[in-house]
Order: sequence, then C-alpha cells, then structure tokens
Amino acid sequence: MTQTAIAAEHLVKSYGSIKAVDGLSLNIRKGEVYSLLGPNGAGKTTTIEILEGLRRPDEGNVSILSMDPWKNAVELRRKVGVMPQGFNFIAKITPKEAIRHYCTLFGVPDNSKELLELVDLTDMARVSFEHLSGGQKQKLGLCLAMANSPEIIFLDEPTTGLDPQARRNMWDVIKRLKSEGKTLLLTTHYLEEAERLADRVGIVDHGRMLAEGTPDDIIGEHGNGLYLRISGTAELASRIRSATGLECSSKDGLVDIKIDANENIVNVLRVVESVHSKLSVLELKREGLEDVFVKMVGRMEGNE
Ligand SMILES: Nc1ncnc2c1ncn2[C@@H]1O[C@H](COP(=O)(O)OP(=O)(O)OP(=O)(O)O)[C@@H](O)[C@H]1O
Ligand SMILES: [Mg+2]
Repeated sequence: MTQTAIAAEHLVKSYGSIKAVDGLSLNIRKGEVYSLLGPNGAGKTTTIEILEGLRRPDEGNVSILSMDPWKNAVELRRKVGVMPQGFNFIAKITPKEAIRHYCTLFGVPDNSKELLELVDLTDMARVSFEHLSGGQKQKLGLCLAMANSPEIIFLDEPTTGLDPQARRNMWDVIKRLKSEGKTLLLTTHYLEEAERLADRVGIVDHGRMLAEGTPDDIIGEHGNGLYLRISGTAELASRIRSATGLECSSKDGLVDIKIDANENIVNVLRVVESVHSKLSVLELKREGLEDVFVKMVGRMEGNE
C-alpha cells in the first residue's frame, strides 16, 4: 500500500480581505516529487508555509508523516527540510559554519564537506554569506534543507535566479534525493523543469487547484494535442481552413493547424503548394505543460 507523506484537506488562509488559499487539498505519497505551479500570488508559498507548520490555516487539516505540524513540531523538525523562497541568512556566517551549525542543532554528524561538494559550493565554503552571489546563496539554502537528512523536503522556487549550469546541478540533486526515497514538494515558474522532475504537478491560482496529475495526464486532458506550425499569412490560414476543414489560427506570420491524423499534414501541404506559398517555418509541435498552464491561468484572469 502506498503511504501518504503529506495530506492537506480543504486549506483556507486569508490575509485581511485577500484569500491566499481557498479550499486547497493535497495528497502526496512517500517518495513522490510533487510540484506546485501557479502564477505570482497564487498561494503556493502560503500553502507550503502551512504544511511546514509556519502558518496556521484559518480552516482545514494538515498531516505530515501522520503528524500535526503544530502539535508535533519538534519531532517533525528532524524529518522535514525546508528551503524558503528567497533564502536569506546571517551575513557574517560562512556556508561551512552554517551547515555545521545546523548539524549541531539537529544532533547529526557534520556533513558540510559532502553537501558543499554536492551543490558545487566547495570553493565558497569559507566566504561569508553576504559576499555570496544570489545563486550561491540558493545553493547554501539547499544544503541547509538537506543537513538533517530529512524524509520530506520543501523547496520553494529552488532554481529561481540560477544560471543554466547551476539549474541542471540542482535538478541532479533533486533526482538524487528522489532516488534516495525522499518526498519532495517544490514550486517553480519553469514549467519545463516541472515536466522533467515531477511525478505529479498541481496547477493553482487564486488559492484553488485548477488541475492535478502527472504532466502527461494534464497535457493529455487539457492540451490541444498535435499541431503543425508553418510560416504564412491570415489569408493562407483561411484557405487552409476552407480547403481542409481543420482548426487554424494565425499570428505574427505563423499559422498553427490542429492535426489529428497524418493525412491532415499532406492536405495542408497541398494547399501551401497550390498557392505557391514559400515556407520558412515547418514544424510539428505538441502542446507542453507551459501551453496548458498559460491557457488555464489566462482563462482564470479573464484574458481569453
Ligand atoms: N504575510 C502576508 N501578508 C499579507 N498578504 C500576504 C502575505 N503573504 C502572502 N500574501 C498574499 O497572499 C497571496 C498569495 O501569496 P503567496 O506568497 O502564497 O503566493 P505565491 O504563489 O507563492 O507567489 P510567487 O510565485 O510570487 O511566490 C498574494 O496575494 C500575497 O500578496
Ligand atoms: Mg511564492
């Protein structure tokens, strides 16, 4: 039987008149990598802080490893690691000192050498926090979240502001944590990252869950499938539409045609050939998580 690591039922949290979390439920199993996605202000950080036991919800229940994060705060502190959004620390402390300090607090052996190597921060081990770059600070944040070898790790935007190499390094660390059986809840604004790393994603906006499932399931259910993108004008789009009956849209010199059978492609190219249109773009594309996300969140904002 699969065991639940994180369960939340109907969470509600308001700040004055702002309802940051509005009836959100979550169920994350042990060993799962789950990514909360949503636009700025969607309620991701507030939700994570409730799960971490840092904020009390106005309504709803939370269970972390079958414990209440408020009542069992001390016990859970040993089993949960946290990397907050925009991680910050004491200016004069070096990464090595910071990790050692955490290890002492948690009563675990000093693992600073191994952790600094893991995130490629060994060279900065003795530089004070205030002199680290933004990305180096994030890396230290990840080390501190891992210092007590937790079972569950909350990572709130761990890769924001990282260079491409450092981001890939962070992905490797996340994959390694998963292979060790850890449960991870992470947020990100990089949809491609969620698609790569997460077993399941939850798309939230205005504190509510809009869609939840594996990236493939969400793309399958809410995506528009395959489409052919070619260079061309609105006039070409209208010709293709009337000749083939296919769904067609045009924007910025590109025509997108929805494809549901191979012969659609041949038929479209026949129209292109018949009007002697010269193609500079010819691509077969599949809607990804980002396309689905933009459509969903756009709809919520009334942009469509
Ligand atoms: N301490 C607070 N006091 C008042 N309002 C807050 C507080 N924290 C968050 N909010 C509001 O709650 C809403 C949700 O914020 P939250 O930080 O949870 O969003 P988020 O999804 O993490 O956004 P981002 O992607 O920008 O990090 C926002 O409208 C925000 O302004
Ligand atoms: Mg946030």
